[in-house]
Amino acid sequence: MKKTVLLTGGAGYIGSHTAYLLHTLGYQLVIVDTLHHHQVFSPAWATVIKADIAQPGILASIFQQYPIHAVMHFAGFIEVGESVKYPDQFYHNNVVATLHLLDAMRQHDVNTIIFSSTCAVYGTPVYVPMDEVHPFGPVSPYGKTKLAIEYILQDYAQAFGLRYAALRYFNAAGALPQQGLGEWHNPETHVIPLLLRAIQQQKTFTILGDDYDTPDGTCIRDYVHVLDIAQAHILALEYLERGGPSDVFNLGTGTGYSVRELIEAAQNVCGRTLITTVASRRPGDAPVLVADAHKVQSVLGWQPQHSDLNNILATAWAWEQRHLPL
Ligand SMILES: NC(=O)c1ccc[n+]([C@@H]2O[C@H](COP(=O)([O-])OP(=O)(O)OC[C@H]3O[C@@H](n4cnc5c(N)ncnc54)[C@H](O)[C@@H]3O)[C@@H](O)[C@H]2O)c1
Repeated sequence: MKKTVLLTGGAGYIGSHTAYLLHTLGYQLVIVDTLHHHQVFSPAWATVIKADIAQPGILASIFQQYPIHAVMHFAGFIEVGESVKYPDQFYHNNVVATLHLLDAMRQHDVNTIIFSSTCAVYGTPVYVPMDEVHPFGPVSPYGKTKLAIEYILQDYAQAFGLRYAALRYFNAAGALPQQGLGEWHNPETHVIPLLLRAIQQQKTFTILGDDYDTPDGTCIRDYVHVLDIAQAHILALEYLERGGPSDVFNLGTGTGYSVRELIEAAQNVCGRTLITTVASRRPGDAPVLVADAHKVQSVLGWQPQHSDLNNILATAWAWEQRHLPL
């Protein structure tokens, strides 16, 4: 029997796909999640505990009850705009709750963790594609909480022998609709679900800025299929188990698509036309965010298998049609 992995936030978008992939590989799974988005998540193949990781005693009781071998830490608040309005909530839920987790791990001799970081730690690009040594400059409290956690991981590794991999995701996208898994954020601010919902509901889709310094004037992003992100977690876990040193890895494909290219591709995939309008730029949006992903490819042996744009859109479209938006 394979080992037991604890997934914090494992009922969320990326955590649930990773949990499913781990399950198919024979891992035992314990998920702790507040079910913040009121999502329905009770698969037969995982133990799901509805709780906040900052709740006193909860992690101790989980570590005492289950033979946890490693932790994948997805739990956190993720909406950039909300983080500007409520930085207190973000620092508590992301940074303070992570300290609770790391301290509980120390107390129970669990020393392996894969952390969900983000390209938001880099902020506005100084150059693209962005590699792992690109200067830091998070522009939102959200990005700052993730960078703070990376520093904490570094210090805990140095002082206490913690072993970690921090995966800096670019834009997670796509779904696994045949398993009832997909994106379920509330509020939803990610462009692919928003544009597919506009197509489905025959509503106008608003492009936020078409005067960027890009070929068609709209923002360019690096979209990674959520199953490829899940696969990277498994590779990172195996890497740490082989004795690989703690490290950070960008998780992107290295290819960027503009919002207009997304719209064009989505219309083709869905076989429907989308009406669009243009509004002004959203503060803090960089013109281009594209990963230099050579490190994750060479060190972890990661190769995206599902991140073709049409596959991302087709799987997300199938999910949106089954799932009623909140
Ligand atoms: N979605 C992306 O494109 C993206 C990009 C970069 C980084 N990330 C990071 O990846 C992680 C997962 O993102 P996601 O898109 O799956 O988000 P998500 O909101 O779908 O999942 C996060 C889950 O964590 C849970 N949660 C939040 N705080 C908790 C707490 N204190 N205790 C227990 N559970 C808690 C929520 O209920 C939710 O189910 C996050 O840490 C996010 O910052 C996501």
